[in-house]
Amino acid sequence: MPGRIPQSFLDDLLDRVDIVEVIDRRVKLKKSGKNYSARCPFHEERSPSFSVNPDKQFYYCFGCGAGGNALTFLMEYDNLEFPQAVDNLANSAGMEVPREPSRDGRDTGQREDSNKPLYALMEKVSLFYQAQLRQHSDAPRAVEYLKGRGLSGQVARDFNLGFAPPGWDSLHPALGGGEELQALLIKAGMLVQNESGRVYDRFRDRVAFPIRDRRGRVIAFGGRVLGDDKPKYLNSPETPIFQKGRELYGLYEARQTNRQLDRILVVEGYMDVIALAQHGITYATATLGTATSQIHLERIYRLCPEVVFCFDGDTAGRRAALRALEAALPSMEDGRQARFLFLPEGQDPDDAVRSGGREAFEQLMAEAVPLEDFLFESTSRNLDLNSLEGRARMSKQALPYIRQLPEGVFRQLMYQSLAERTGLELTSLMQLEVPPMNADIAQDNSVDGAESPPPYLDEVPLPEDEHSTETPPSFRHRPTPEGYSSLVQTAIALLLHQPTMARLISPAQLEGLDFEGSQLLLDLLQLLQRRPESSTAMLLGHWYGTPEGNLLNRLAGQERLIPATGIEQEFADTLLALTHLPGQNKLAAQVDKLKVTNYADVSDTEKQRLKELLQEKRARDAQRNKPAD
Ligand code: UTP
Ligand code: MN
Repeated sequence: MPGRIPQSFLDDLLDRVDIVEVIDRRVKLKKSGKNYSARCPFHEERSPSFSVNPDKQFYYCFGCGAGGNALTFLMEYDNLEFPQAVDNLANSAGMEVPREPSRDGRDTGQREDSNKPLYALMEKVSLFYQAQLRQHSDAPRAVEYLKGRGLSGQVARDFNLGFAPPGWDSLHPALGGGEELQALLIKAGMLVQNESGRVYDRFRDRVAFPIRDRRGRVIAFGGRVLGDDKPKYLNSPETPIFQKGRELYGLYEARQTNRQLDRILVVEGYMDVIALAQHGITYATATLGTATSQIHLERIYRLCPEVVFCFDGDTAGRRAALRALEAALPSMEDGRQARFLFLPEGQDPDDAVRSGGREAFEQLMAEAVPLEDFLFESTSRNLDLNSLEGRARMSKQALPYIRQLPEGVFRQLMYQSLAERTGLELTSLMQLEVPPMNADIAQDNSVDGAESPPPYLDEVPLPEDEHSTETPPSFRHRPTPEGYSSLVQTAIALLLHQPTMARLISPAQLEGLDFEGSQLLLDLLQLLQRRPESSTAMLLGHWYGTPEGNLLNRLAGQERLIPATGIEQEFADTLLALTHLPGQNKLAAQVDKLKVTNYADVSDTEKQRLKELLQEKRARDAQRNKPAD
């Protein structure tokens, strides 16, 4: 198998070629302003909405959303796999493709050699914790605790469980001490440095759960207290090798145990995953204190065609299920399945499998609710479907969800099913104009976030009823809503257009930001910190083919969002506004209301509104900071 293509070569390559030449050889381009345009080669159209930006070396189609850099163009237009596209492009530029001696092609392109010491260190930490579980004088308490939760030594070994000993300073001396090691342990999130400069172990007197990435490398830990102390669980912070919104606990172990995965079960807790494995259900994974994301779903669906989400049957569980539904919709290509299992109130999978055993649990899974049923059930709760009013309301609530589905047979069937349930004509349903999915419902709150809960679907007031059911529906098409917060989008758009601005802020300053899309902003900043030279084209290439990539393409194409001058100021202002928002629910809610279907359509009013919000906020701050005389 050919080795990995080094990232530095890809960067060079994209630097060396000219996207205008590459595309023009295949699709005749016409100069239009400072850009080039053509009729889009990726969809049928009469007037040109395909645009190529020579400065930033990317293309974007306003009609169909196709976009990317010179490499992705070759992949799509010439229908090439990534390595072939690289070969092809390198050939035309007279460059030879170097290969690094490792398996795997492009996925690993993101790996940074500079992280090697971190991976090696985390492995050592894990071995140390495992040894402590056998040797430490306090270990019997931990072993008793695990036994008390029904775990065998075997399953503890399968998951490499360990014991982080009590005391503030165990890890550093045990691994050899020294300043360099200390700095690395801090970088890895294993040691904490407080404001007065004191350094101590993050995990103390806890069971340690190593979190492994897709290749089995330890990248983080979870730690549970042995009793009822608070906080019950501690988790590693985000580090250069750990982004919690991307990882799934137990996925590596599940792949190790099962040569072929038929389905993956998504649960909430570390202990759920392990207890299920203990009882022979070895295909469970857990998100790490965050809601299930599209990234999670894409990872899962690359491995198997079916996901079963498992939730508590209480209100919080239903809410989490709705979030999972929303994250899953864009991934629901034909042939993929998602189902929802609601456990009796107050029970988690750990309780359920321990009391009922494997068969009973698998029986529950077999009865899990299919996505389509859950969607229609959630969007018709408390509605009287015998009334015209109730059915109209239901279609309004269901449509934004159905529109998130990728085109295909399944989506068509969902439209049809909605038509049957509501008695409305299929064709008018498909063209009915409805507002985007309720913003509050779409927002990603982490499990431990104490924000006020989003309203239920049936508590969501209907958008102003601009047409009763007798009025003919509007026929304007709208693209699928993305649901990202506008402020975050603005920041991302600005950053995309001038990636060097990443130096203006450290990702740490945005830590804790929890808007939809804020993870992508953080990821961008983190990548740019590691590779400050990255161009717009390289960034688009990095996320190519992912849901985030689609958003990035779209934002890169929105050039009129970018001010001609003062872009740095604009970026700084936007970040400032962002970092001040989370604590301010009212302001945050207002900003959320600004989420729109088509950014291009309303961006001007929207930006105006944001400016006003900012001014309001500044005025308030100024008021507050006035000396009280
Ligand atoms: P739960 O409280 O449901 O965990 O939190 P659990 O697995 O059932 O816990 P026990 O051990 O059986 O009592 C689910 C997940 O939420 C995160 C952890 O990832 C946990 O596995 N969590 C929970 C935290 O990060 N911190 C906490 O304090 C609690
Ligand atoms: Mn539990």
